[in-house]
Amino acid sequence: MESKKTLAQSETEKPDKGNASVIVDAAGIKKYYTMGNSFAGKRNKTLKAVNGVSLRVHEGEIFGVVGESGCGKSTLGRALLRLFPLTEGRLLFEGKDLSSLGRRELKPYRPRMQMVFQNPYSSFDQRQRLGDALAEAGKVCGLSRENTDARIKELMEVIRLPDEMLERRPQELSGGQLQRLAFARALLPAPRFIVADEPVSALDVSVQAQILNLIIDLKKQMKLTMLFISHEMTVVEHICDTIGVMYLGEIVETAPAGELFSHPAHPYTQALLSSIPKTHPDEEKERIVLSGELPSAIDLPKGCAFAGRCRYATAVCREKKPEAVKISPGHHAACHLYQAG
Ligand SMILES: Nc1ncnc2c1ncn2[C@@H]1O[C@H](COP(=O)(O)OP(=O)(O)O)[C@@H](O)[C@H]1O
Ligand SMILES: [Mg+2]
Repeated sequence: MESKKTLAQSETEKPDKGNASVIVDAAGIKKYYTMGNSFAGKRNKTLKAVNGVSLRVHEGEIFGVVGESGCGKSTLGRALLRLFPLTEGRLLFEGKDLSSLGRRELKPYRPRMQMVFQNPYSSFDQRQRLGDALAEAGKVCGLSRENTDARIKELMEVIRLPDEMLERRPQELSGGQLQRLAFARALLPAPRFIVADEPVSALDVSVQAQILNLIIDLKKQMKLTMLFISHEMTVVEHICDTIGVMYLGEIVETAPAGELFSHPAHPYTQALLSSIPKTHPDEEKERIVLSGELPSAIDLPKGCAFAGRCRYATAVCREKKPEAVKISPGHHAACHLYQAG
């Protein structure tokens, strides 16, 4: 047995989270999909969408998950909300083990774990007035009509939209306005945890900033705890406390946001950061070009998932999967460059 600490174990030493309680504690989460069918003698293939992710989200923390399209971010977000059965792993929500609960047993937890999606137009019923959509969401979460109405009024102030917007239907609002209402709907039952899956990716850049500012406000006002998913490094930089970089179903590096940007350890993180345009013409920046495309999550290589595109890869990388090791407090990377011995 190796003496190196796994990510899940070493996270308990985190010095920078104070006494903030852990809201989501995930260890070794896997979600596999079986592809094709065994009909005509063909062997089923396994797509490893999420392949052993461990992370902790503390109260009041925004945990960013960033990585290329198809790396498993949405599947991870949904897994943490237990929207489907897990292939493997342990998921604690506020200390309760949700890993193997059935649909009925999960029901009481649903209002406390909410989701906001990328496209606000497809997450609302086009025919429904927005006031009715919010009222319905309150009802589903078991709130009384009076409580729902009071809460909607309160939230309209928080998201800074006039009450008359509630009379309108989705297509009568801009993308930014509708995404604000999507946040209001998610916040209605006062959830303890929100997964926001690329909530600004479908919006214009100017509107993106408004929504990111709203999230920062929400965090300050209500101690919001959130998993914030994005495929863009620049989007996670300013609003996330901690960032997890995902590659082919795994989190290859986790660090406080500032630390990740100033001292990226994993070659994949370094490549992602090098592709961000310079902010100053004199800034020295080497652009690391990633060769090839994100490989398929079917028939993954046995060593490091990034080895095929990594400029530092050696024989050991193709043979053995690297474990997450501690780089500095709260900073971990799964890369053979940092494995002792
Ligand atoms: N329901 C599903 N059935 C089969 N494969 C899926 C399913 N959902 C996602 N996948 C696959 O899992 C991988 C990760 O997908 P996803 O989590 O959507 O990535 P991301 O959000 O990072 O773009 C992709 O290869 C995708 O095709
Ligand atoms: Mg996605």
